[in-house]
Amino acid sequence: MTNKTYSALEAEQQHLLQVYGQFNFEPVSASGVHITCRDGSKLLDLYGGHAVASLGYAHPDMIQALTKQAEQLFFQSNAVALEVRAKAANKLVAVAPEKLNQVFLTNSGAEANENALRIAFKKTGRNKVLAIEHGFHGRTAAAGACTWGAKDKWYAFPRTPFEVNFIPRDNAAAATDMIDSDTAAVIIELVQGVAGAYDLSPQFVATIAATCKQQGALLIIDEVQTGIGRSGQYFNTELYGLEPDLLTTAKALGGGFPCGAVLLTDELAACISNGDLGTTFGGGPMACTLINTVLDVIDRDDLLGNVQKLSTRIKNECVVGPVTKITGTGFLLGLHCNKGAKPIREALLKKGILTGSSSNPNIFRLLPPLTLADEHVDELVSALKTL
Ligand SMILES: Cc1ncc(COP(=O)(O)O)c(C=O)c1O
Repeated sequence: MTNKTYSALEAEQQHLLQVYGQFNFEPVSASGVHITCRDGSKLLDLYGGHAVASLGYAHPDMIQALTKQAEQLFFQSNAVALEVRAKAANKLVAVAPEKLNQVFLTNSGAEANENALRIAFKKTGRNKVLAIEHGFHGRTAAAGACTWGAKDKWYAFPRTPFEVNFIPRDNAAAATDMIDSDTAAVIIELVQGVAGAYDLSPQFVATIAATCKQQGALLIIDEVQTGIGRSGQYFNTELYGLEPDLLTTAKALGGGFPCGAVLLTDELAACISNGDLGTTFGGGPMACTLINTVLDVIDRDDLLGNVQKLSTRIKNECVVGPVTKITGTGFLLGLHCNKGAKPIREALLKKGILTGSSSNPNIFRLLPPLTLADEHVDELVSALKTL
């Protein structure tokens, strides 16, 4: 089959379950913040494989770490202790909000949320969870149960595994009313990613945190999308001045290698015993060496400073053309448009700029690698001005 006639889209359709609305281009390689497609075109990637490619593509430190670890020890499960895993946990705790001193490593964001919820039920012995309207927490049984709108769209289990209710966004009075002595946990994204980078109001979040404390409910912050530098801090929780009981993260954590983590307090860890949680692949050496590399490079290259600087530039300079407002934090930004975002994203793609969608038809998202540079922002600003 020659390049001209080959279509990965058609090839995938033969045996892969068709559950994704896919882009109409085929990446064949990528380097830095650019993707090269089968037709030879090059794209500036402001989508980052859905907030995953934290260090961009073909990063030399990642390749070196992966190669070295693959040669040395490709895999061992949690049945044995590994230096590389201990290092990953130490590094995560060092950058985590204070008091989050313990780590459970997983393979994905949903699995991290699943286990955070499990820990909350175990600790409190209660039977109810609260989430926020428009929040997204994953597609597994418990994480999906806490995801807004899942029931009407794709939640195919006969029932949710526990009672879940949704607090209206930024309604502090409703939060105070709804969090009670039956509430095991409240799970929230501080910036709702899938919803279009919606920033929850700090006052709403503070009310939730205070009411959780009063009622003995646990606060779970889902930083699957915002964590590991995307907010311009290691964790967005710092910007809100929160002390959560549990924090989950994934996506950017391995820079593209599947991994996730639950971070929790020593007090909570004390209620977990041998055998209570488990996973075969979570905390594998390849994932752990990448966690170490991603965190080392963020620190060495001051990528938090880079995110802060360029995020400010995007917010200041990209309210042009069809863009009327920008929400979100750091490199999780929602560009609000004066019309449907789809044709605007298509026009940007024609100009060689890849962006992300959101569940709001008038908002598109930027989730670029933390390694983005000034010239890439220039390119985006120029392109938006022509639309
Ligand atoms: C905030 C948030 N939580 C959880 C998830 C689920 O993560 P995963 O797809 O790795 O299971 C996502 C994925 O988009 C997310 O954005």
